[in-house]
Amino acid sequence: MIPGKQNTFGGDMKWKADLYTEKHDFVYDYGSALIDLLNPQQGEHILDLGCGTGQLTQEIHKRCGSVVGIDSSAEMIHSAKESFPEIDFQIADATDFHFKIPFDAIFSNAVLHWVIDAESAIRCMHQNLVNRGRIVLEFGGKGNVSTIISQINHTLEDFNYPPKAVNEQWFFPSISEYTTLLEDNGFDVLLANQFDRPTELASNATGILDWLNMFAAGFFIGVAESDVTEIMKTIQDRLKPTLLKNGKWYADYKRIRIVAKKQ
Ligand code: BEZ
Repeated sequence: MIPGKQNTFGGDMKWKADLYTEKHDFVYDYGSALIDLLNPQQGEHILDLGCGTGQLTQEIHKRCGSVVGIDSSAEMIHSAKESFPEIDFQIADATDFHFKIPFDAIFSNAVLHWVIDAESAIRCMHQNLVNRGRIVLEFGGKGNVSTIISQINHTLEDFNYPPKAVNEQWFFPSISEYTTLLEDNGFDVLLANQFDRPTELASNATGILDWLNMFAAGFFIGVAESDVTEIMKTIQDRLKPTLLKNGKWYADYKRIRIVAKKQ
């Protein structure tokens, strides 16, 4: 995960590695299919961009033997190193990373929607790839979690707090927006699609509260601490009819999937 640095909501959104591993393992469960699309080959040198706690990095490592995981969260990298000491994990920003040895491929799952400065990230990926190197990316696309966002903002307003602009927090581009950025920055796009993927949240007992705490903390910056819990509970109650189905909570995720090659 690469949160925060570029988000203009301010606050230092520290990722809670334990909460992430325990209750948001769906993030890397879904990533396995993306590794199949990456199709790592033995001997390839691959970068996992926004590796979080390193579970997918390890899967890639098993298949190619040479992987580096980067993440801007020191807490995530600390946890990844503890879990997988044989793998090279480093703290680095998605918009500003440099390696002496270029990669055959760059992989990124559920991260790039945190990177508001998408063009810098694309340029950085380009610089760190071999010629004809590939990128395989999946992240939130246009309309991602729009049901949740609308309800957060609606409820903030009901509690007399201003709503927050989504594009200050996340970057959810359309396919055409993102592929244009790629083509303008030296990539040939081989595959680009967007699909709905309602995603079951790990903890049904605590509903959507863990998700709000983990991922949407930026919306609550500037909200009095004494109000946060009540606002979050109200959001949850209001989302129940739409997102709770047969006793399970689902977030309205929309994914963009990209495969592209350096020209
Ligand atoms: C996502 O994976 O689409 C996502 C996760 C957290 C916040 C927003 C989007």
